[in-house]
Amino acid sequence: MDPFELLKADHRKVEELFTQLESARGPAKLRVFEQIRTELELHTQIEESIFYPALEEPKETHELTLEAYEEHDVVKRLLKELGRARTANEEWEAQAKVLQENVEHHVEEEENELFNKATRALSQEDLETLGEQMANEKERKLGRRGSKKAAKKGAKKAAKKSASSKKSASKKSASKTQSASRAAKRTGGSKKSGSKGTSKSSGSKKSAKKSAKKR
Ligand SMILES: [Fe+2]
Repeated sequence: MDPFELLKADHRKVEELFTQLESARGPAKLRVFEQIRTELELHTQIEESIFYPALEEPKETHELTLEAYEEHDVVKRLLKELGRARTANEEWEAQAKVLQENVEHHVEEEENELFNKATRALSQEDLETLGEQMANEKERKLGRRGSKKAAKKGAKKAAKKSASSKKSASKKSASKTQSASRAAKRTGGSKKSGSKGTSKSSGSKKSAKKSAKKR
């Protein structure tokens, strides 16, 4: 597998996403950004774990590779900061533009300088092996991400279910309390009427006493 073709395909995908980011508005902007973030994180991880270590040693590629690590760090910092935002305001847009320019510069340097030097520094066989390793690692990471996403979805569903069952339970208990208080009111009312009855009967006792005195 050609390692350069694999990395170039990633670069084109991110370029396309940056074009989408420019035209996206409102919450859609943050959604496109999340896609850019996912792509760049995966891409930088693969380069840093497989491609760059192989290019660090040869003289031809040593300096450019160290520079590439530094450029990745800047991109990662920007991704982290942009990822914290809840809305894409003017400052966010400015920072996203800086991210895009950094990525474009990095891609240009890789495709026009580093890849050429790597072709001279490493054998065709070594390059093929690197390409295969990167493709496999990408597959593995994407698979893991997919299963993580599915697990997250499942957990969210379960949480929603338990929340709704809790809600209905609290609704039931609320209606129980309401009917209990209604019943209490009813009993209280009969007590009142009962006390009225007592006062009436005490009144009749009084009138009986009065009539006894008269006699
Ligand atoms: Fe890179």
